Amino acid sequence: MENLIKVENESLIRVVNLEKSFFDGDSELKVLRGVDLEVDKSEILAIMGASGAGKSTLLHLIGTLDRPTSGTIYYEDEDITTYSERELTQFRNTSVGFVFQFHQLLPEFNALENVVMGKLISNRKSGYTDGRQLTRNEMYDRAETLLGSVGLSERLTHFPSQLSGGERQRVAIARALMNEPKVILADEPTGNIDDITSEVVFDILLRVNEELNQTIIIVTHDSRLSDQTNRTVNLVEGKISY
Ligand SMILES: Nc1ncnc2c1ncn2[C@@H]1O[C@H](COP(=O)(O)OP(=O)(O)OP(=O)(O)O)[C@@H](O)[C@H]1O
Ligand SMILES: [Mg+2]
Repeated sequence: MENLIKVENESLIRVVNLEKSFFDGDSELKVLRGVDLEVDKSEILAIMGASGAGKSTLLHLIGTLDRPTSGTIYYEDEDITTYSERELTQFRNTSVGFVFQFHQLLPEFNALENVVMGKLISNRKSGYTDGRQLTRNEMYDRAETLLGSVGLSERLTHFPSQLSGGERQRVAIARALMNEPKVILADEPTGNIDDITSEVVFDILLRVNEELNQTIIIVTHDSRLSDQTNRTVNLVEGKISY
């Protein structure tokens, strides 16, 4: 009987034969040469590969920050590569959370404001699947809860310059979670901090994945970190090597 029950993981993202070239005059730099990749809902996936292999390029394409030269990216069977700029912006704001190597927090705003900012700006469309708009107070409450969940309840009014590297990255994680994104894309989130702090930041990402069933794709050079994810793939010569 057990053999008859096939548990299939639900796919969230499907990248099919993705190619990306950069052009400089007549010369073409082929960075991605046919990437095929499937990411399941609730999965935490690590992408590794040499410097210059195209990891950031791939993450940018998945995050709709850039468009592929050819190939397709499906989110839950919806082909987002056909979206207009306007649709892409909307999609990005509501469905993708980014954590970059350099936190990219706004220096003139405190931790709480940094977390809530994107949500305030995209207030017009809340991104909640039930279409409910959050009030300003509810947004601040949510931001405060998220900062608490990454261990920063005591740092709400600190400015980025008053936070440690690891704390800034934790603010960035809280900010990425603000919209309940379909996926969090983390590009070497621990690349700029020391080993011990890296572990703290990485543990938070693992916890967010486990406790919130949050799908996460993380680019890292650190095999100690990638060893702890559900799955690791390598980007080699423009393709995923399994
Ligand atoms: N906007 C761009 N214009 C031209 N070339 C680019 C552009 N972005 C990236 N490249 C080139 O594409 C290649 C892949 O870059 P990418 O940043 O994706 O590598 P990476 O795997 O993230 O490397 P790293 O581990 O050093 O961050 C590199 O050779 C880079 O110089
Ligand atoms: Mg990179």
